[in-house]
Amino acid sequence: MKSEMEYLTIALPKGKLFGLSAKLLEKIGYTAEGLSDKSRKLIISNEEKKIRFIVSKTADVPTYVEYGAADIGVIGKDVLLEAEKDVYELLDMGFGKCHLMMAVPKAEKRAKLMDYNHTRVATKFPHIAEKFFRQQGMQMEYIKLNGSIELGPIVGLSESIVDIVETGTTLRENDLEEIVSIQEATARLIANRVSFKLKFDRIHSLVEDLRKVLEAEAAQ
Ligand code: PRP
Repeated sequence: MKSEMEYLTIALPKGKLFGLSAKLLEKIGYTAEGLSDKSRKLIISNEEKKIRFIVSKTADVPTYVEYGAADIGVIGKDVLLEAEKDVYELLDMGFGKCHLMMAVPKAEKRAKLMDYNHTRVATKFPHIAEKFFRQQGMQMEYIKLNGSIELGPIVGLSESIVDIVETGTTLRENDLEEIVSIQEATARLIANRVSFKLKFDRIHSLVEDLRKVLEAEAAQ
């Protein structure tokens, strides 16, 4: 049986962050033949370099890393904050820039944020939303959705949404307007706490190599 210690297991999220993560890791030699978020193969190995990639649903990456099923992983700061997992955050990878915000239908905009107190918020991020509104001294009702959050206020499920905005297209196309920004987010490299100690040299040099590539790209 192959020793777990020999391999470095990396969890990558399906979807928007996959391509950019895989491309950046490839630049420092961390890749594997057939690595793709479209493949039905969920574990892809590079036997020569002793690397294993897990391709998982975005929201599950922090879970794989927290339990040590993956040593490290790439995840958006938004999902990481929401997951509230006990992992190390090693590096801001800079890409996948977006921000979490509260938005409402343009036609039903109220004068002040406090005017939404005790109303319903549809969101994929109830923990972040709850923390934010608590800081504002507001009590809200949270309705957890798993996608197409913008639909919530349009069909009368909620008065507002807390969701991520990248280009602003979804808000525009659905006549919603941002009323307050909550949190900026980019992709982060995270590590399991035990793996970080046991595989310190390998993870440390991976982080340093990534840092160099990111700095060189930023200087261009
Ligand atoms: C995200 C987010 C918004 C949209 C924002 O959804 O929930 O709906 O992207 O991007 P934009 O500002 O560029 O329009 P995603 O595509 O991840 O799908 P989802 O609706 O399943 O959450």
